[in-house]
Amino acid sequence: MTTLILLPCHSVFTAAESANASENKLGPRDAGPGFNQSDWILAPFQYEANDHLSFVEHIHKAFELLDANPDARLVISGGFTKKGVSISESNSYLQVARLRGLITKQNEDRIYLDEYARDSYENLLLAIALFRKRTGTFPQRTKIVGFEFKRYRFLELHAKVLRLKHVDYYGIGPSYPDAATFEIPEHEWETKRKRYFDDLHFSEKKFATDLFEQDWFGCIGSKLYDKKVSRDPLKRGLGKEFYSQEPEPVLNAFLGFDQLTFPEAKAAYDDLGAFPW
Ligand SMILES: *[C@@H]1O[C@H](CO)[C@@H](O)[C@H](O)[C@H]1NC(C)=O
Ligand SMILES: *[C@@H]1O[C@H](CO)[C@@H](O)[C@H](O)[C@H]1NC(C)=O
Repeated sequence: MTTLILLPCHSVFTAAESANASENKLGPRDAGPGFNQSDWILAPFQYEANDHLSFVEHIHKAFELLDANPDARLVISGGFTKKGVSISESNSYLQVARLRGLITKQNEDRIYLDEYARDSYENLLLAIALFRKRTGTFPQRTKIVGFEFKRYRFLELHAKVLRLKHVDYYGIGPSYPDAATFEIPEHEWETKRKRYFDDLHFSEKKFATDLFEQDWFGCIGSKLYDKKVSRDPLKRGLGKEFYSQEPEPVLNAFLGFDQLTFPEAKAAYDDLGAFPW
C-alpha cells in the first residue's frame, strides 16, 4: 500500500543557519535544535503551552512513521507564510529534522516539501497533489501528524470532503507545562490550564471548524480565504500551475475551487464523478 505521511507545519524555525547539528539522532524530548522558543516565529497563543516543543514532537513522529513504512512518502507542508521571512514553514521544519539527526540515506529521497499551503485544508489537498506529481500515483493510505485538537477538522471535514479512504490521525500536544513551571499553587494552575484548553477548543470551533463546515474549500469571499491571503505575503496562491497535472481532471478541479464562490465550487464538486484516489 502506498502511504502518504502528512506533517502540517504551524510556524517557522528561523535558526537553521546558526544552530549546530546534533551529532547523534535525538529523541523527541531531547533538548537540542528546535527547543529554544526564540528560534521560532510564534503567534501569541502559541507561547503559553510551548507549542514549539509540540512541533518538534510532530517532526519526530512523522519521521518515526516514515522509517517504519519503507514505501511511504513524507510530505512536510507549509508555505512562505511570514512577511520578510525567506524560508518556507516546510523547509524550516526539514532543517529541524536535519539538525536533530533524523534524515538518513534510507529516508532522504522519500521526503517532499509542499511550499504553498496556507491552511489545513490546503495541507491535505496539496500533499495529495505533490504525492501524485512525484510518484505518479495517488496514496492509498494517509497518516496525518498534528495537534490532537485538530483531529476533527482533518478527519471529519477535510478528509471527508476529499473522500480519502484509510486515514489515520496521530494527535500530539499541546502539552501544558506543569504547575512548577509557572511557580503558582496547584489550584491556580488547574484554573489556568482549564482556561487555556477551553480557549483552544473555542477558537478551533469558531475560527476553523465552524467556517470549514460552511465553506469546505476556503473559497473567495470567505473569512477562510481572507486568512489565506494574510498568510501569503508573496501572493503565490496555492500553486495551481505547479500542482495541476494531466490526466487528472478531479485533482485539477480541486486546485481551482478557491477561486470560485462556495456555491459555484460546491456545484462543480457535485459534478466531479468518480475520484481517482
Ligand atoms: C555552535 O557551536 C559553536 C562552536 O562550538 C559555538 O561557538 C556556538 O555557540 C554554537 N551555537 C549554538 C547556537 O549553540
Ligand atoms: C535562545 O535564543 C536566544 C536568541 O538567539 C538566545 O539569546 C538565548 O541564549 C537562547 N537560549 C538558550 C537556552 O540557548
